[in-house]
Amino acid sequence: MKIQFLGAAELPSAPLIVHLVDQDAIPADMETALVEGAKRARFTGKAGQVFDGFVERSGTVVRVALAGLGEASAKDRRSNVERAGGAIVARFLTSGETALTIDGSGVSLTAQEAAGALLGAVLRGWRYDTYRTKLADDARPTLEDITFVGAPEGTEALWQVEQAIVQGVSLTRELVTEPANIIYPESFVERCKARMEGAGLKLRVLDEAEMRGLGMGALLGVAQGSVRPARILVMEWLGGANGEKPVAFVGKGVTFDTGGISIKPAAGMEDMKWDMGGAGAVAGTMLALALRKAKANVIGVCGLVENMPDGNAQRPGDVVTSMSGQTIEVINTDAEGRLVLCDALTFVQREYAPARIVDLATLTGAIIVSLAHEYAGMFSNDDALVADLNAAGDATGERLWRMPMGPAYDKMIDSPIADIRNVGPRSGGSITAAQFLLRFIENGTPWAHLDIAGTVWTDKPGATWEKGASGFGVRLLDRFVRDTLEG
Ligand code: BES
Ligand code: MN
Ligand code: ZN
Repeated sequence: MKIQFLGAAELPSAPLIVHLVDQDAIPADMETALVEGAKRARFTGKAGQVFDGFVERSGTVVRVALAGLGEASAKDRRSNVERAGGAIVARFLTSGETALTIDGSGVSLTAQEAAGALLGAVLRGWRYDTYRTKLADDARPTLEDITFVGAPEGTEALWQVEQAIVQGVSLTRELVTEPANIIYPESFVERCKARMEGAGLKLRVLDEAEMRGLGMGALLGVAQGSVRPARILVMEWLGGANGEKPVAFVGKGVTFDTGGISIKPAAGMEDMKWDMGGAGAVAGTMLALALRKAKANVIGVCGLVENMPDGNAQRPGDVVTSMSGQTIEVINTDAEGRLVLCDALTFVQREYAPARIVDLATLTGAIIVSLAHEYAGMFSNDDALVADLNAAGDATGERLWRMPMGPAYDKMIDSPIADIRNVGPRSGGSITAAQFLLRFIENGTPWAHLDIAGTVWTDKPGATWEKGASGFGVRLLDRFVRDTLEG
């Protein structure tokens, strides 16, 4: 999508004009057909409502639309405006129209809010049609250009920043959408390298020999059933003060999760191509931070493996030794995410001594039972970190709900033969998964685990996304970095 800006006086004779309007404020100076039409269609200007009609102006037929922003005084004005931008694109993306003009001169918006309209618009227009060779003509996206007329001063500069977010979210969605025959550990790394070229990130890749050298027996135990070798991808962005401890983001990157020998049922197993959504979010966030030159020190780590059943796969009951030195009894090979994350967590602590750690993982089906698809589960050893993440979640709409932790849950993963077992009883499955991870956090480092199994993939379109990969996590973590590290 190409975005341009024009001054309010320059409203061109565009074939499609979309006026932004506040609730109950339909402009009365338009043609009666539009004013009456909007009323008849029950358009009131609620956030996300779009009305469109055709009128004749000096001999040509013009399409004129109204997009509602909701109450002008709403406290979530910015997210309403994003929603409006998304609704405009949802309406016109495959409409046959190739260009539209958004007219913001009739409403009062801050530059921040106006930039949000464009963010919503562009994010809502993201699709991945790479493998669709027979898309019907009338289902093909046509909209290419958006011109914003009458945006408040400063919108264009803020849009430059938002574009970094667009790039990050798009990378995440792409990685999540790609099937597992295309994105596996090595190709995940290659795709990131290609997309991050020139952004200024320093990339480090660990292969299996290096991981073996570091003693990552837990991660490698998961990988050993696959012909695809595992990788760890490290992305360093040091845009902050020299020598200041970084924040670390760690992502689960299981590029396909069959369950391993504890194999999953066939129905719905295709969903497990997006079991790398945590790693995808970390990669997208790092790209966004680099593109907008964030004044912060951030390390991104993706633990990348494929979990397959095979003659060489690990068995239930196997005992593996993690990089931390702790031994793990692998009761269920389908609880593989925590085995990948524990070594990635130890690695990032030993190598970078981060001030704070946030991991993201499609870790448990149980979190979907708890929270459905509305919130990601948050587990943490640090109230201040929880508060910061909650603030970022509220600001971006990528919401988090804190879940309990404690010694009683920790006891449930003691093993009779090793230091720890990789699953507890059926109940409290998301919590015992988090307790498992906590055993790998050293020196009380503030840490939060986000279980994003319910938010990475959506079955229906929303305000700023098509159905499919949501890109969850990028906006959240970017906002977290802005508000906690960049002042
Ligand atoms: N990747 C799955 C969790 C998952 C399930 C994500 C559904 C998204 C949708 C994870 O590796 C897994 O298999 N977890 C098991 C844990 C169990 C064996 C303790 C689960 O949730 O069933
Ligand atoms: Mn699994
Ligand atoms: Zn998994």
